Amino acid sequence: MIKLRPILMGLALAGAMIMAPGLVQAQKLHLDPAKVMGPDACGECHKSSVAAWKGSHHFSTFKTLPRLKEARAIADKMGVKRIKSGSDCLSCHFTSAMVGGKAKPIAGITCESCHGAGRDWIKVHSDFGGKGVKAENEDPVHKTERYAKSVAAGMIRPGNLYSVAKNCYSCHSVPNEKLVNTGGHAAGSKMELVAWSQGEVRHNVWYTKENQVSAIERLRMIYLVGRALDLEYALRGVAKATKKATYALKMAKRAKKARKRIKAIAKLIDAPELMAMYKAAKSAKLKLNNEAKLTAAADAVAKHAKALAAKYDGSTFGGIDKVLPKAKKYKGG
Ligand code: HEC
Ligand code: HEC
Ligand code: HEC
Ligand code: HEC
Repeated sequence: MIKLRPILMGLALAGAMIMAPGLVQAQKLHLDPAKVMGPDACGECHKSSVAAWKGSHHFSTFKTLPRLKEARAIADKMGVKRIKSGSDCLSCHFTSAMVGGKAKPIAGITCESCHGAGRDWIKVHSDFGGKGVKAENEDPVHKTERYAKSVAAGMIRPGNLYSVAKNCYSCHSVPNEKLVNTGGHAAGSKMELVAWSQGEVRHNVWYTKENQVSAIERLRMIYLVGRALDLEYALRGVAKATKKATYALKMAKRAKKARKRIKAIAKLIDAPELMAMYKAAKSAKLKLNNEAKLTAAADAVAKHAKALAAKYDGSTFGGIDKVLPKAKKYKGG
């Protein structure tokens, strides 16, 4: 508690300044509805992934959320009449697609929420070089081009760990001040990416059939990238905060914790990117009215996180195995 005091004081000071009125954070949809194909389209080929997804809260929220009294309470405070139409809730709880010329929620959090809206890459990513050519016979040049074209068309591949994981934090950090302060919505999930990705969300069912937990080297990378993103999004949260209230305080607390964690991890393994993240984060004070510095710090953390994800494969990071969550902690697994 004592350690938090400087943060709170910083916020108190900044909060005393006059805030510009009408700083409403208009929520954009997570995906462009015109480009969303929907999970059924993916399921034509990825049946087992769809089956795994159907056991997750990401799937069930579509039906359950509008009926929850907690959701109604938040919606009432936010002045939202219908949770599934034109509300802030759409950006995180639902996926919208064009239905009869109008954007409508068609499902909960879907394949495309994490892998990118599919319209422009759905054909490209699975074409190994014309009819009859299988993965085994694909020309290596074609493969490189296929991946590059898919990514250019908006596909977020699991190989790009930073990009795929960034999605998680863009929703799970709940970057919406009004929703938290006025609506009383949870101010972000207590998300640690290994535990949160290896339980109900896990769908390693394409390249192997058994839906096994990811390999240890991969888990280490997931852990590190998750910790970096937690810090990045907390900094972005504080940067955008306008009032000394729950949202700002929780985000600042989160940033402080995340910063400490990165520093501790940096001592366990040999990856200078981690200390660079810590220093970048430390360079911006966790207070209101500090958007430019905090955003620059978050951008720097992002840059080092991307570099980390691209440079290492986790094989030399055994030093963090003792801090990885145990299987019984996997969320909904
Ligand atoms: C016509 C069949 C087909 C459809 C439809 C399809 N996929 Fe795929 N998908 C494939 C094939 C084949 C591969 C394996 C490609 C490879 O080995 O690189 C694949 C691979 C993937 C991968 C892993 C790529 C990687 O980098 O390892 C992801 C993620 C993926 N698909 C997501 C989707 C999503 C999301 C949709 C719906 C928007 C979708 N797919 C629709 C056939 C399909
Ligand atoms: C910025 C993203 C975001 C927005 C916008 C958002 N939510 Fe959420 N919501 C989340 C996340 C992430 C969780 C999961 C929190 C957790 O359990 O860690 C959640 C959880 C919830 C829960 C608890 C769910 C349960 O099964 O217990 C309710 C209720 C809820 N949200 C209601 C709403 C309502 C109503 C709106 C619109 C007014 C809304 N949310 C808008 C991200 C969001
Ligand atoms: C919550 C985000 C999220 C959702 C929803 C999601 N994915 Fe994924 N997907 C990921 C992540 C993260 C990975 C990498 C997992 C790892 O390496 O441990 C992945 C991996 C994959 C792979 C490669 C799996 C393998 O066997 O190695 C395919 C294919 C895929 N996803 C397709 C889909 C399809 C199809 C859907 C919808 C039914 C879907 N995903 C829903 C995040 C998601
Ligand atoms: C488009 C927004 C969005 C994205 C992207 C997203 N989530 Fe979620 N996630 C949610 C919401 C909203 C909920 C709460 C659903 C509910 O219970 O109503 C949730 C729930 C969950 C849960 C269940 C939590 C519980 O309390 O049981 C897990 C686990 C989870 N997400 C992990 C992930 C991971 C890992 C990723 C990235 C690979 C991810 N999510 C990406 C919005 C998102």
